[in-house]
Amino acid sequence: MKILVTGANGFLGYYLCKQLLLQGYKVLATGRGECRLPFTSSPSFNYISMDLADIDQTRTVVSQLNFDFIFHAAAIGKPDDCELDKTRATAVNAEGTGMLLELIANTKTPVCYISTDFVFDGKEGNYAEDGLVNPINHYGVTKAQAELLVRAYPGDWSIVRTVLVYGRPMTGRSNLLSIVQEKLTQGQTYSVVDDQIRTPTYVEDLVAGLLLLLEKRALGVYNLCGEEILTPFEMAVKTAKYLGLNHELLIRTSSASLQQLAQRPLVTGLKIDKAKEELGFMPRSFEQGLMDTFRPH
Ligand SMILES: NC(=O)c1ccc[n+]([C@@H]2O[C@H](COP(=O)([O-])OP(=O)(O)OC[C@H]3O[C@@H](n4cnc5c(N)ncnc54)[C@H](OP(=O)(O)O)[C@@H]3O)[C@@H](O)[C@H]2O)c1
Repeated sequence: MKILVTGANGFLGYYLCKQLLLQGYKVLATGRGECRLPFTSSPSFNYISMDLADIDQTRTVVSQLNFDFIFHAAAIGKPDDCELDKTRATAVNAEGTGMLLELIANTKTPVCYISTDFVFDGKEGNYAEDGLVNPINHYGVTKAQAELLVRAYPGDWSIVRTVLVYGRPMTGRSNLLSIVQEKLTQGQTYSVVDDQIRTPTYVEDLVAGLLLLLEKRALGVYNLCGEEILTPFEMAVKTAKYLGLNHELLIRTSSASLQQLAQRPLVTGLKIDKAKEELGFMPRSFEQGLMDTFRPH
């Protein structure tokens, strides 16, 4: 079975491609520009450059390839970047998704779209799959728009929402844990918010959930995230203590005083009962995720 992965060069993309290959799938990885993945020696791995902002390139690539399933993970995923260039964020995250779906609509290839807790406004928290979508920043708006396009897709579709993904960054963006390690190792202070509530997700748990969803051909919306409720500041302190770094360099701060470009939903966190019951999803504890993030590779 051949799986097309978009955003394959990204943080999630690396772990997803790696696990798909380990499980015996053929992987058609797509990303912006050159391949940054170390799997090119595998006969089951192919990389093709595909920029979702480039309509002609995407059309050419999609029309020339055969694949049986798509994990659509490509996105401009940093909320502040989306706020800074709303037009581009809409073009890639929403219109790019729409174009991809349009190009495969006649084949009805099953699609799994990777979405986010940022489609919610953060007033309630602990959102189930049918929670009220009401984004408060442009990143969330574009992801919610893409979700609507996926829901209208004529083939089989699933939407996986996840939360504050952490782990060892291999080819993609850094994350809270890796930033804490870097800053504190250099003796720098780091301001971290303590008024946002999240259910952080270890990247390999997210991948395990995506593979379960693929194997079971599960359809519809699923939350795949950790089960523990933590603030970013709590995560940062646990990380510093685990690494034996000076946690007093961490400055507890509030969302209001941090003045980030994109407003963040305060209380998110997602319920994972559905994924546990229907998929057998079993995320690890944050303590275990910390160990796995920093275990020597
Ligand atoms: N990380 C989280 O905490 C988190 C939480 C909730 C949801 N998500 C979702 O999870 C998915 C994967 O994110 P991630 O954490 O792996 O972030 P990431 O490392 O930034 O991966 C996203 C990938 O999308 C690629 N991309 C950006 N613009 C593109 C374009 N025009 N055409 C093709 N590819 C493009 C990026 O390419 P470059 O590498 O070249 O920039 C990057 O490799 C995203 O859909 C994100 O919204 C992530």
